[in-house]
Amino acid sequence: MTDSPMSTSAILALADQCLLKNVNRIPLSFVKGEGLKLWDPEGRVYWDFIGGIAVCAFGHAPPFMAEVLHKQAQELVHVSNLFYNEPMVRLAAKLTEASGLARAFFANSGAEANETAFKMARKYGKDKYGEGRYKIVSAHNSFHGRTLGAVSLTGQPSVQAGFAPLVPGTLFVPFGDIKALDEALDETVAGVILEPIQGEGGVTLPPEGYFPRVKALCQERGALLIFDEVQTGLGRTGTDFAFRHFGATPDIMTLGKALGSGYPVGACLATEEAAAALGPGTHSTTVGGAPLGMAVALELVARILEPAFLQRVASVGDYFKKGLLTLPKSYPALVEGVRGLGLLLGLNLKIPAAPLTVLLRERGFLVNATAGTVLRFVPPLTVTEKEIDLLLEALSAVLASQ
Ligand SMILES: Cc1ncc(COP(=O)(O)O)c(C=O)c1O
Repeated sequence: MTDSPMSTSAILALADQCLLKNVNRIPLSFVKGEGLKLWDPEGRVYWDFIGGIAVCAFGHAPPFMAEVLHKQAQELVHVSNLFYNEPMVRLAAKLTEASGLARAFFANSGAEANETAFKMARKYGKDKYGEGRYKIVSAHNSFHGRTLGAVSLTGQPSVQAGFAPLVPGTLFVPFGDIKALDEALDETVAGVILEPIQGEGGVTLPPEGYFPRVKALCQERGALLIFDEVQTGLGRTGTDFAFRHFGATPDIMTLGKALGSGYPVGACLATEEAAAALGPGTHSTTVGGAPLGMAVALELVARILEPAFLQRVASVGDYFKKGLLTLPKSYPALVEGVRGLGLLLGLNLKIPAAPLTVLLRERGFLVNATAGTVLRFVPPLTVTEKEIDLLLEALSAVLASQ
């Protein structure tokens, strides 16, 4: 590779030669970002309503992230978990205070945060009740990441295909079905892992009253309730954590995505009782919790947790949702409905969603398709009403062309 900038076709050709072909990538590459805008090497601009898949809370390349990273990198980048560091303990204090949970562990991704939760729940079950108490209940259509443990917890056959034998001791119930959970929760179950809103599964909300009943069942049977808030957490739904909407608090909660907003950081938070299961020597990571990532996450979390910031996400999210809600009326043959909260929104279609993302891309808008027929919108939390109007206009034009 030379130092001169590469064209999109040169990047695609080199990728074809040497990148693992593990992802169906869109044939686009970007060289610069600012707010919602992304530029490709040829100077074409795109409006990004994918936000790095619900990651870039403050849009692309926010100057404050560069400043924090620069300052911290000049002082101290990494020391390992053999030692303490100030940004790590400050971030743990902030997240535990905000969530009401007691202790935090820092990892490098959402999947790794879920691995931690998985190990914690299993160890908790065995420590408290004995060897036979190790199973984790998860939901159909859930998504918890791509490591083998996280894949084993993910209720999507396409994600699991080809990787058997998976980690044993997982079982799956339909999301929102309290009777199925009631039947699954026997004396072999140590924990239940659920996304408050299923993101990759198609922006699926739980039925009214579901989570308080899940919590009551978990308490009654002695199983830990794990909320995977990797996608829904930290402002995405207009509240600090999505569990606020649903009337139940977790024993363990995992975070990622917006926590580092592009810098790889994941977190597993837990009650004192659950956290006690992972005592000295049971779990760690070399780079997780290093000062560089912790400093930037600390600044991001402080900004996200500002009440005015969260209120703005909620109101911009309402504005976006209202705009989307006009589409089922305008295009009844194509659009089924709208779902989601805050800036985690889905347009449920009666036709496949992927071809529409191609048409939107041709108009300069990046939107993602999930669950076959859902257009998912997870833009930066800083998206403006004007930018939403532009997207809605393009979306209407694309639907009208069908
Ligand atoms: C709910 C949820 N959990 C876990 C993950 C995995 O996070 P990561 O890709 O950072 O490992 C994702 C990623 O999309 C997710 O949406």
